[in-house]
Amino acid sequence: MDKIIIEGGHPLSGSIKVNGAKNAALPIMAGVILSSDPVKLTNVPALDDVVTMANVLKAIGVESEFDGNHTYKFNPSGTITEEAPYELVKTMRASFFVMGPLLARLKKARVPLPGGCAIGVRPVNIHLKGFEALGAKVSIDGGCAVATADKLVGSSIILDFPSVGATENLMMAASLAEGKTVMENCAQEPEIVDLAKFLNRMGAKIEGAGSPTITINGVEKLGGGTYAIMPDRVEAGTFAILGAMTKGSISIENCEPNHIMALINKLREMGAEVSIFENSLTVKATKALKAIEAKTLPYPGFATDMQAQLMAALCLAEGSSTITETIFENRFMHVSELARMGANITIHDRSAVIHGVKSLKGAPVSATDLRAGAAMVLAGLVAQGTTEINQVFHIDRGYEDLVGRIRELGANIRREE
Ligand code: UD1
Repeated sequence: MDKIIIEGGHPLSGSIKVNGAKNAALPIMAGVILSSDPVKLTNVPALDDVVTMANVLKAIGVESEFDGNHTYKFNPSGTITEEAPYELVKTMRASFFVMGPLLARLKKARVPLPGGCAIGVRPVNIHLKGFEALGAKVSIDGGCAVATADKLVGSSIILDFPSVGATENLMMAASLAEGKTVMENCAQEPEIVDLAKFLNRMGAKIEGAGSPTITINGVEKLGGGTYAIMPDRVEAGTFAILGAMTKGSISIENCEPNHIMALINKLREMGAEVSIFENSLTVKATKALKAIEAKTLPYPGFATDMQAQLMAALCLAEGSSTITETIFENRFMHVSELARMGANITIHDRSAVIHGVKSLKGAPVSATDLRAGAAMVLAGLVAQGTTEINQVFHIDRGYEDLVGRIRELGANIRREE
């Protein structure tokens, strides 16, 4: 298994480009099922999760072609089967996004329940309740969620929690339902806006994405087309935190600074200098960072997907910081890994108190999940000595060539088999 080896403490500076957003690409790829015409997606990141989704689509009858340079062409004109394979779904929860589109297109779907993962139980009850509201009969059979309907009918849906995945799955299902669906208490993440833009480009009639209330007027069918995936705000945020941690200056190009304002405000509170431009930002910190308090919340609040990386930065801040995780019940696995590098962190229920230390020391550590893995890379880059990160397959799920791109900023980082 591959490892990432970092010799820490080298000053970093320069610019780094942000790729297309994983969390926008995955639901949009599932949305291709709603059309029978060719769809071309550009700015798709080359990630393991994207390959998994392409394989899920292939298994249900949608062939795709990747040009090796961020463009995928899909052909959803063939016979589609209603069943997604367990072997793939169990490796990636986002595979469950095919449920809404399959149900809308075939009036039946059978998708394995994705199960929990390292960061939490992650049920799909809100997705299933929504399918029922649209007129589907839903049951659990042999570990799969099974839904059937004579037809889907527009409805009024109030989500129990603004779940990102449920908002996306239901938006896709309602796009081909008969009549109008009004969804309330929706998630407002930028990826939901991107999915709505893509579906509207294909002929859907969706209004209000990005606000708590989304209205969908069902249409009979969606056509094909070309769509460019939005920039990845978690990548942008990870690099912004890196800019605050190292004593250089890092410019983050090809991003949407508006999507990470909650993080930018936190970095400024910590004493980092952040300059915002139209599609880029520059982050530097000339003095020691200061302790802060942060709480993860649904968008536009501070994102849970940047919690581990922010914690890596706070390990070296002056004073004691608190991070409260309200979205996932078990998202502090990186704490014990950071502690192996000399961090001083205590956990009280869903809050972590980070007592700043003068320095971190390189150590062998594990990427316990995707974003925790990114946090270990950040910590390794500012630690004294050598850090060896194991289980890097987690990092490959969400960051394309992270090692190569960070090396261009002047880091001493390499990947070993
Ligand atoms: C998406 C993102 C993930 C991010 C998360 C929260 C993708 C592919 N993944 O995941 O990176 O960390 O949003 O911003 O876009 N919940 C239920 N029942 C449901 C659905 C969710 O109880 O039916 C709970 C979850 O267990 C969790 C919370 O709601 O505690 C938020 O989950 P959700 O917003 O659905 O996250 P995902 O869509 O899975």
